[in-house]
Amino acid sequence: MKTDTPPTIYLKDYTAPAYLVDTVDLDFVIATGATTVSATLAMRRNPAVAAQPLVLDGEELETLSVAVDGEKVPFSTTPTTLTIADLPDAFTLHTVVRIDPDRNTRLSGLYRSKDGYFTQCEAQGFRRITWFLDRPDVMSTYTVTLHADKATYPVLLANGNPVASGEEADGRHWATWNDPFRKPAYLFALVAGKLDGLFDTFQTASGRSVQLAIYVEPGKLDQCPHAMAALQKSMKWDEERFGLECDLDHYMIVAVGDFNMGAMENKGLNIFNTKYVLARADVATDVDFENIDRVVAHEYFHNWTGNRVTCRDWFQLSLKEGLTVFRDQEFGADLHNRQTARIREVRGLRAAQFPEDAGPMAHPIRPASFVEINNFYTSTVYEKGAEVIRMIQTLIGRDGFRAGMDEYFRRHDGQAVTCEDFVAAMAAASGFDFTQFMRWYNQPGTPHLAVDSVFEAKTGRYTLHIKQSNPRASDNHPYLIPIRIALFDAGGQIIAGSDRTLLLTENSQQFHFDGIAAEPVPSLLRDFSAPVVLDYAYTPQQLTLLLAHESDPFNAWEAGQRLASTLILDATAAIAAGQAPVWPASFVDAARRLLQTQAERGAAFVAEALTLPGESTLAEALDIVDPDALHAARNSLRRHLAEQLEGEFAGLYAGLAPHGAYTPSSEEAGRRALRNTCLAYLLELNTPAVRQLALQQFRSADNMTDQFAALAALAQTECTERETALAEFYQRWQHEALVVDKWLAVQSGSRLPDTLATVKRLTGHPAFDIGNPNKVYALLRNFGANLARFHTPAGYAFLAEQTQLLDGKNPQVASRLARCFDRWKKFDGERQKHARLALESIRDHQGLSRDVLEIVNRALG
Ligand code: PHE
Ligand code: ZN
Repeated sequence: MKTDTPPTIYLKDYTAPAYLVDTVDLDFVIATGATTVSATLAMRRNPAVAAQPLVLDGEELETLSVAVDGEKVPFSTTPTTLTIADLPDAFTLHTVVRIDPDRNTRLSGLYRSKDGYFTQCEAQGFRRITWFLDRPDVMSTYTVTLHADKATYPVLLANGNPVASGEEADGRHWATWNDPFRKPAYLFALVAGKLDGLFDTFQTASGRSVQLAIYVEPGKLDQCPHAMAALQKSMKWDEERFGLECDLDHYMIVAVGDFNMGAMENKGLNIFNTKYVLARADVATDVDFENIDRVVAHEYFHNWTGNRVTCRDWFQLSLKEGLTVFRDQEFGADLHNRQTARIREVRGLRAAQFPEDAGPMAHPIRPASFVEINNFYTSTVYEKGAEVIRMIQTLIGRDGFRAGMDEYFRRHDGQAVTCEDFVAAMAAASGFDFTQFMRWYNQPGTPHLAVDSVFEAKTGRYTLHIKQSNPRASDNHPYLIPIRIALFDAGGQIIAGSDRTLLLTENSQQFHFDGIAAEPVPSLLRDFSAPVVLDYAYTPQQLTLLLAHESDPFNAWEAGQRLASTLILDATAAIAAGQAPVWPASFVDAARRLLQTQAERGAAFVAEALTLPGESTLAEALDIVDPDALHAARNSLRRHLAEQLEGEFAGLYAGLAPHGAYTPSSEEAGRRALRNTCLAYLLELNTPAVRQLALQQFRSADNMTDQFAALAALAQTECTERETALAEFYQRWQHEALVVDKWLAVQSGSRLPDTLATVKRLTGHPAFDIGNPNKVYALLRNFGANLARFHTPAGYAFLAEQTQLLDGKNPQVASRLARCFDRWKKFDGERQKHARLALESIRDHQGLSRDVLEIVNRALG
């Protein structure tokens, strides 16, 4: 059975709303089995648009009554629309609907989770709550009353400020909230539940006091202080860096265990996946702590970049997301370690966004069309979007960027705007012409730069010749690309005056450097100044020099990654041809020098530099991927390093032993990262002594970072200690949902040959629940990212089956799972045959959602 083709929605078809909603009054009577929603909307015709009937959006609503100005009126409905004709220019619309949050497994709209009722309205969940003009350019002020059983749902929250509350019959109670800020429906939220609260305050720069609250499942208050501190730090940082003060009297965060995404910036009432709130040293890793800092900051920063100024339509999603990711990256860099933050951002971009931009889901950061908007909450819109904002800052400088932000808010506070509006504010404040730059918003694909160099000893002139191309783009017009560079002399010093930002504006362009005494080593794209793939025929000697001497930590790291990539890709070809890989001594020497300089360069940097490029990143450099050969090659290099540097790894492991009790500082986190990197290399030797060492660390660690690192390393190693540690870990942490997710993820991500069988078995384990997105991501999606173990006929068939099973419950999450197939055409013919069959089986599944259908059609198409 083929599902009907769902319609495609185009940016070029945008029209302003025919009606506006000034105020919204909502009354929720929450009860098991059904919730009744009464809505009173003060509406008027949009004077800028021709008169036409009112068409409201709705989904899975049982309509009980519809009245205009107190009178019943004729109306017509489809499953997703309610139409009323012949309306006056201004009127009050009153509707009553019944919804069933207890059976809402999509986790969009109003739904039940363990401790109560929660909402998720971005992008189009509000229409699952009441009939409405569910689009971001319709902004209203909201007053919300909730009624619920008092003992079961003692906490009743909505956006804004508490207005009144009281008791009612049958042990029930009610509360009314008012949000004075106009907002689009996607920022609406309510919560009714049994929750514990952690309370604090924040004094803004102008002396206002903001009441802060974090609500969590009962018994988890001791896992909230880190998120509270992160919130306070974010508030302060936004005042200092961007002059942006909190406008709210109440800022609430509620954590929920069932959540499709990371977190949501609802006005004054953020709703978070527990993963980005709960943390305590024994249950959360250093990476978790840092992620919480960034996600808390991200949602807080949205209050200005997203809420005060919002998107005109969903094609503009990167307006708020790219900008807000850039802001949270900058916050994270200031709070922790700017050097490794940048390295990790780029590592993440290459692992997820570059493959996306080269695959069937490639789209511009501002897409021109979509079938299902939820499919466009992507690393392109978010992470590439942030890179585009970062380039704007590179082009006009930090002060220019700040002036542009000021101008953006001066022009657009309270409005729903477009990406052009943002860039126009940047242009006005800086005088920079961004006309050519807009290509970054309008084209899919990663630009490639091919760089050649010529040195003329006679004239002392060094010339870089740079060509750009983007085969995914619709035409071959050039991008404007800022390229930071420096030239290094043979001693590893920057040649004076060579440190600059080149502006590439042509498809092919030359840049001259005069007065150069000897052929230099170019360090190109420092700090990753543009999201491009750069080819230059570096020699291993040049890369070794940059790895040792480049003062830009990103490009020092990058030199190491280039060295390793070349070796692994060559070895992949060798292994595929039945030969043994060869590893040059120079690479081992470079790695040894890195280990020796950890004190000067920082443990965190050295840990990053010793981490080889990931398999999915390496795969992008190949035309046809043999995942077994690639996997064998990368592992062989890891093992070779372990054999050659065993003494160094062991020495550093001992030398970096914790000084005392765990502290979450970046300094200590860096030491742990390097020490655990050493342990993982040592485990490549798979000797009884090292296995014992890992088990010993696993058992004695006073923090999750070290405990989990030992478990993760053991999980990659076939041995009895592995099984012991996995069993002990589950035994100890089975009641901590987020720790159980880690336990699932180390198994689904394991390189052991029987991983598929393990994952299948775990789908039947009591720890797994296909209705919980975190569990699906940990077990199933993480398996789909396991290059060597997923890309097999049986792996394809398994994830196809799971995607179909999940689609009936939660299409948004199923659609994210289906994306594991994105790169199927990069594999050999035999694999492709099986991947195609798997994709076709999903496509032909009866009643398939449009979410998954869009992904599968694109993949097959
Ligand atoms: N807007 C959220 C964020 O980026 C993400 C999100 C999208 C959450 C859709 C839920 C649903 O912070
Ligand atoms: Zn966001």
